[in-house]
Amino acid sequence: MIKVLFVCLGNICRSPTAHGVFQTLVDNAGLDNQVRVDSCGTAAWHIGKTPDPRSTDAASSRGYDLRALRARQLCEEDFSAFDYILAMDESNLTGINALKPNNNKAHISLLLDYSPFDGYTEVPDPYYGGDKGFEIVLDLIESACKQLLEIIMLRFNEDQNK
Ligand code: 4NP
Repeated sequence: MIKVLFVCLGNICRSPTAHGVFQTLVDNAGLDNQVRVDSCGTAAWHIGKTPDPRSTDAASSRGYDLRALRARQLCEEDFSAFDYILAMDESNLTGINALKPNNNKAHISLLLDYSPFDGYTEVPDPYYGGDKGFEIVLDLIESACKQLLEIIMLRFNEDQNK
């Protein structure tokens, strides 16, 4: 099993969007018994909450269902439970690295390291902005998640053949 964790600040906008998009790609590729997907936030503010309705609506209009997701906070166990930990922005990455244990083996990076899109290196926080921000989040996440799935499956298959 390959385990993939998406991390943002609140776990109600960007990382649940990535969770839903990546889960759909995994399901459509018939890989749901090989890849496990989760998301969380570095902050505790929204623990237990459903995703922001603006994210749920924007995702729904592209065919992704985020309604079953509930926010949780990043914890130390995540570093041993997940193979890939993907931050939406540099500030999330700083938060992840602050909690990272010395014996960490997870691949930790920015999500957009897997697919720089139109000059973006980070998925911008849409929380205090308008609806367009939620569409940009989806554009960036859809593009990067496709690349991410290809790369992790390539790596996995190479490792199996070693
Ligand atoms: P997210 O967005 O990190 O993409 O879930 C945010 C959600 C909530 C807040 C900030 C960003 N907040 O300040 O409550």
